[in-house]
Amino acid sequence: MTAKPIIRQVLPADLSQDRLPRHVAVIMDGNGRWAKNRGLPRIMGHRRGVDTLKRVLRYCSDWGVRALTAYAFSTENWGRPLEEVDFLMTLFERVLRQELAEMMEEDVRISFVGNLAALPQSLRAEIDRAVTQTTGNQGIQFTVATNYGGRQEIIQACRAIAIKVQQGHIQPEDIDETLFTHHLYTAEIGDPDLLIRTSGEMRISNFLLWQLAYAEIYVTKTLWPDFDQTEFHQALYDYQQRDRRFGKVR
Ligand code: IPE
Ligand code: IPE
Ligand code: MG
Repeated sequence: MTAKPIIRQVLPADLSQDRLPRHVAVIMDGNGRWAKNRGLPRIMGHRRGVDTLKRVLRYCSDWGVRALTAYAFSTENWGRPLEEVDFLMTLFERVLRQELAEMMEEDVRISFVGNLAALPQSLRAEIDRAVTQTTGNQGIQFTVATNYGGRQEIIQACRAIAIKVQQGHIQPEDIDETLFTHHLYTAEIGDPDLLIRTSGEMRISNFLLWQLAYAEIYVTKTLWPDFDQTEFHQALYDYQQRDRRFGKVR
C-alpha cells in the first residue's frame, strides 16, 4: 500500500508568519441552526461540524499555528434533548476511532480538557487510546474541550489546592497565578491568543474563563459548518491587525 502524499497548504501571502497566534481556540457554534436552515435534524449539523473541525485543524497545522483548542461539549450541554446528547457522545467516539491513524500520520498530539470522568465509559476508552498513542507526536497540540465548563474547572483547581494546603504540602501564601494555572486542565497548553466564535453570538458560554483573560476575540456570523478556509484566513488577518497591549501603553 502506498501512503497518500500529504499536500500542505502554504501560509497566505498577506499573513505574516511571525505574527501568527501560537494558540487558537474556537467555540464551534451554529450547527443546529445550519441544519434547521436546511430542514434537517440538528444532528446533521453536528456531523458537518466535524468536517469543519478537521479542515481547521489542517489549516492550523499547515500554516504554523502551534495549538488548537476546540469547544465540543459544555457542562451545560447535558441539558439538551437526550437524543442529541447521545448522538454527540457516539459521534465523538466514532470520529476519534476513525481519525486516529491520520492524526498519527500528521503528527498531531491530541488531548482533552473537561470533566472526563463523567463521560460514557466507551468514549473514555477511545480518549485514553488517542491521547496515549499521540503523546509523543511533535506536531500541533490539538485539544478538545469535552464536558468542559470554565467554572467547574476553576472549582476543581480550588479543591485540589485546598487539599494540598490541608495536608500541609503548601501554605496559603504559596497560592499565586502560576500555582493556580498549574492546577487547571490546560496546565500544559497555555492561554489562547485568539478566540474565534462562529454563529454571531457575543458570549463566552463558560469556555476557558481564566485562560481567555487576554485573548483577542473574533466573532463571525458564519455558522460553524460553513466556516471555511477564507473565513479562517480572515480571522487570522484580523488578529494580525490588532494591537495587543496587555494593559500597558506604547
Ligand atoms: C454547537 O452548535 C455544537 C455544540 C454545542 C455541541 P449548536 O448545537 O449549539 O448549534 P446552534 O447554536 O443550536 O445553532
Ligand atoms: C457553546 O455553545 C458550547 C459549544 C460550542 C460546545 P452553546 O450553543 O452551547 O452556547 P450558548 O447556549 O449559545 O451560550
Ligand atoms: Mg449553540
